Formats: sequence, structure tokens, C-alpha cells
Amino acid sequence: MTATAKPARKPARPYFSSGPCAKPPGWFPAKLSTESLGRSHRAKLGKARLQYCIDLMRDVFQLPETHRIGIVPGSDTGAFEMAMWTMLGARRVTTLAWESFGEGWVTDAVKQLKLDPTVIRADYGELPDLAQVDWSNDVLFTWNGTTSGVRVPDGEWIAADRQGLSFADATSAVFAYDIPWDKVDVATFSWQKVLGGEGAHGVLILGPRAVERLESYTPAWPLPKVFRLTKAGKLVEGVFKGETINTPSMLAVEDAIWALEWAQGLGGLQALKARSDANAEALDRIVKERDWLGHLAADPATRSKTSVCLTVEGADADFVKRLSALLEAEGAAYDIAGYRDAPPGLRIWCGATVDTADIEALGPWLDWAWATVKAEAQAATA
Ligand SMILES: Cc1ncc(COP(=O)(O)O)c(C=O)c1O
Repeated sequence: MTATAKPARKPARPYFSSGPCAKPPGWFPAKLSTESLGRSHRAKLGKARLQYCIDLMRDVFQLPETHRIGIVPGSDTGAFEMAMWTMLGARRVTTLAWESFGEGWVTDAVKQLKLDPTVIRADYGELPDLAQVDWSNDVLFTWNGTTSGVRVPDGEWIAADRQGLSFADATSAVFAYDIPWDKVDVATFSWQKVLGGEGAHGVLILGPRAVERLESYTPAWPLPKVFRLTKAGKLVEGVFKGETINTPSMLAVEDAIWALEWAQGLGGLQALKARSDANAEALDRIVKERDWLGHLAADPATRSKTSVCLTVEGADADFVKRLSALLEAEGAAYDIAGYRDAPPGLRIWCGATVDTADIEALGPWLDWAWATVKAEAQAATA
């Protein structure tokens, strides 16, 4: 085989985007229930489907009864902003940032809410020193940094006797890791990541201390209707029973239900985690076998098992663009260029909806694309 011979076998499902992510294996639009479509979401049926979706989420990620789950507008961003705007300002704030999304929450805390937070940062590929966190503050962090592939190792660093609240943007983490819910006061995510659902709604998870904050504190700033979670100082419980604040996409809800039933059928959280772990291990083997590929996240203990970010020897942004375009044109891999703000490299989703055989089949295609783009670059400068 010459260095640029095309591999014989392509990944059967070349979907490696880090959001929206691959649909679950076996997914097909005609498999979705459609009875709730074209009906009021406040009719008995619509409310029952929304409640069923909430019940499935609780079951699949084994959420204790202490925590509420609500379906809210605006995807993960909507859910996280809702939490920030309704609960912050009561005490000092610490924000942790080691990649683009965490940095986005810092920007909003500083520029929009004018909170003057303590900011603890690290560069792409690294995790900040979590021991620096003062838990008398409210603390904002991203459980899995989707754009650098660095995650928190676990919840050990979150103080059990914290005075502040912990706010976890967990969108590329839920369904892939064990989340110690007693350490999490607020968590948010959206369905299009590990579940392979549709982008539309956010999911807001509130622990008892977050509810206490909502019922005892009124922020100084005005709150738009889509952020309002309390009425006359009491939590609007309906939001956590399928009575959404405004109109949801029932198609997206039905799609999430299908994905959750798939997850439940596999065996729930443990099975989803096992699939994600197997994918990350298969990709790690590919990396280890090639001296021109590396992990952006150096420490395996805090390396993502979902959004795995890779360095490519000698590659600048243009090289990565060509390599990913070549693989896309071949139908061998879609959407594997790293995030625009991250150092040039690749990002390969290893969440549960991806099949390990497809990750394995990707290795030879990466070789082919890397050799092809390198040869083109050399020819251009010769
Ligand atoms: C960690 C993190 N936070 C927030 C977002 C934004 O999510 P959404 O598009 O669901 O609002 C993403 C999207 O990739 C993400 O990875």
C-alpha cells in the first residue's frame, strides 16, 4: 500500500460531530411517535409526553428525587443563562474557564450581569487548579469542556459543606460520566449531545439548595418571561412537570423520547458510559499507534471521553480544514475539525451514539487524509 492509498472500508456512520452528534444507531424518523404533533402541548397528551420525557431522563441518569428536571427554551445556553440570571448576585461568584464555553459564561457574568467574579483559568488542554475554589462563593464550571476535550475528574473537589451553589454546564457530560448529584445544585444540558437528540430545548436540573435560592432571592435586574421560574416567591412547579414556560417542539420531544428509550433499552447510564468509554479507548489506540497524532488534553484523568480533541503534527488551521474537507468529501468522516477558537487540531465525538467499529474504521482514513494533505502541501512548495 502506498502512503496515499485509500482504505477499503469506511465508517458505516461517519458522524463524529461534537454537536449535534450522531443519532442513536437504528434511529429513523418514521420510528418517532407523532400523535402529539399538531396538538396543543398543554393538552392532556402533550403534557403526558413531556412528563414521560422528564421521567425517562430521571431514570436514565439515575437522578435522585431531591432534584427537579425541567425542559426549558434555548438549548443548553438557554438553560444555563436562565440559571445565571435567576440565581446569581446573591453572593460572590467564581467562574472556571479552560475553553471557549466556560469563557462564554465568564463574559456574561462580567459584561452582562456585572458581577466582578473571581476567574480561575487554564489554557486549552489543561484544567485549572480546582483546589483554589472558594466554596463560600457560587461556582460556575463546565463539566466537560467540549472545545478542548478537558473535563473535571469527578465531583471530589466540590465541597460537601459549600455555602455557595455549584452550577455545572454538563451538556457534553451527562449520560457519559457519573455525576454525584449531591454535589451539584444546578446542571444544564441539551439533547443533541450524548443522546443524539435534536437541538431545541435545554434541560435544567435543580437541587434543593437551588430551589431555596430561587424562593429566597430576587435579582436586581429584570428577567424576561422565558427565564422566570418563580411566581410570588414560590417555584413554578409546573415547569418540572411538563408545563413548559412557552411552546416546545413536540417533534424534538418525541425524538428525545426515542433516544431515551433506546438508552433505557441498552441498560441505561452504565451502558451509555460503557459505549462512550469503548469509543474513547478505541480512539486512544489510534492515537498511540501514530506519532503524528496526540491528545490536546495531556492528563488521561481529566481527558474527555466524549469530545476528544487531538493535535496533528505540523498542522495549522488550513491543514486541518483541508484534511477534514477531504474526509467529508469521501463520506469517511463528517465534522471532525476542532472548534474555531481552539488550537488547530481534530475533535472526534466518542459519545454513546457512535459505534466503536466506526471509530476503529476512522484510523486508516486519518492516515490517508494526513498523507494526502501533506503531499499536496509539499508539492505546492516544491
Ligand atoms: C460545554 C458547552 N456549553 C454550551 C454549549 C452550547 O450549547 P447549545 O447550543 O445547546 O446552547 C455547548 C455546545 O456545544 C457546549 O459544548
